[in-house]
Amino acid sequence: MLSHIKNRRSVYTQFFTDKPVDKAIISALLDAANHAPNHKKTEPWRFRVYTGDGKKQLHQEVVSVFETLRGPDTWSEKLEKKFSGFFTKAPVVIAIFLHRDPAESLPEWEEVAAVGCAVENLWTSLDSYNLGGYWSSPTFLCDSYGQWPSAADNEKCLGLFYLGYHEAPELPRQRGDWEEKVTWIE
Ligand SMILES: Cc1cc2nc3c(=O)[nH]c(=O)nc-3n(C[C@H](O)[C@H](O)[C@H](O)COP(=O)(O)O)c2cc1C
Repeated sequence: MLSHIKNRRSVYTQFFTDKPVDKAIISALLDAANHAPNHKKTEPWRFRVYTGDGKKQLHQEVVSVFETLRGPDTWSEKLEKKFSGFFTKAPVVIAIFLHRDPAESLPEWEEVAAVGCAVENLWTSLDSYNLGGYWSSPTFLCDSYGQWPSAADNEKCLGLFYLGYHEAPELPRQRGDWEEKVTWIE
């Protein structure tokens, strides 16, 4: 387990190969995500998984979210190039949602933290399948509840997780010293 945690890293779409990812593997990753800790058993993570032609729908949804926020015809060529590049390169794109407990029995931060735990479970599980990926959080996608087409009023997008097989070079781990972040009280 410790080795999976230490091997976890961001692998960006330019390193992905076009090898498809079996649905059974994606399912195992989502099952791992579903084991995340959460307060009051609200299980506030939701995922939409886009593969194959499904990514065309993702493209439409992302443009729609952007233009609802910024106005008609604001989706630029630059954005088009950027996002269609990501969606073409990644065989799997998972949209991550916070599904807020309708009773709001918890502060929002606890539910956001639980979604973060779920994504971390998925992310650390990639190592078992030689997959890579990363969490992308474009500001416009993570703006407000109910913003995503077909999302409920209590659902908010927290970003996209791109994943795929890859040929990324080994990179040095970039972390400061853990001891600088810890105070021992003994
Ligand atoms: C909540 C969250 C949002 C992130 N959003 C982005 C993003 O929008 N774009 C990006 O390139 N990386 C994003 N990342 C990935 C981080 O940049 C990456 O984890 C960090 O640079 C550390 O690198 P590592 O994952 O290889 O350890 C995000 C990570 C988290 C946890």
